[in-house]
Amino acid sequence: MATLHFHGHATFSLVTDDGTRLVIDPWFTGNPVADRAREDVEADYILCTHGHADHFGDAIPLAKQTGATLVSSYEIVAFAQTKGVENAHPMHIGGGYHFPFGYLKMTPALHGGSVEGDTEGTYTTVPGGFVLHPGENGIYFAGDTALLMDMQLLRGQVRVAVLPIGDNFTMGPDDAVRAVDFIQPDVVVPFHYNTFDLIKQDPEQFRTKVGDRARVEVLASGDTLEL
Ligand code: NI
Ligand code: MN
Repeated sequence: MATLHFHGHATFSLVTDDGTRLVIDPWFTGNPVADRAREDVEADYILCTHGHADHFGDAIPLAKQTGATLVSSYEIVAFAQTKGVENAHPMHIGGGYHFPFGYLKMTPALHGGSVEGDTEGTYTTVPGGFVLHPGENGIYFAGDTALLMDMQLLRGQVRVAVLPIGDNFTMGPDDAVRAVDFIQPDVVVPFHYNTFDLIKQDPEQFRTKVGDRARVEVLASGDTLEL
């Protein structure tokens, strides 16, 4: 039984069945809704979907603080290594790898590819998402993305879908409902909303729109969900 913890905005911790601690898109420093300081975070692996500050902002310091392995696109990992991150695993869209905690695959996302801190733009990359354990117990972290036809490929591969609903920078609630139609997960966890005025949304309205397609788990920053 995996445990999902919401740190606010787009940052999650997932403790897998075997007790491995994954932190997804760490942004604690300057995150107005963060439930803790980065210094109080523990991690064995850090997964980054893309390089924007609100997903990658604390990845390098957290990797150094914990010794955790940074898992991200080749370019983001290469940039982090120039900043002194020692443990890192590069991968890329469409590729998966059997980590000790399970099979993890990178999925496409349609979004911006700049990398926070890369002032020269040398490491600009393609944003992604992650599916852990593709199959009937799969967990999908969509990352920041528009609605993609490719999400239909996740049908039957995902029990839990973690989807952005904030609109403006990512899918909004209506497109997220279409994503639920494409993916057909049992459980949907919305994220990337209400952190700033530009992404204000009512998650209860989203729950109503999803209706009986899936169970919507609305997490407040600091909440934990047994999956
Ligand atoms: Ni972004
Ligand atoms: Mn974002």
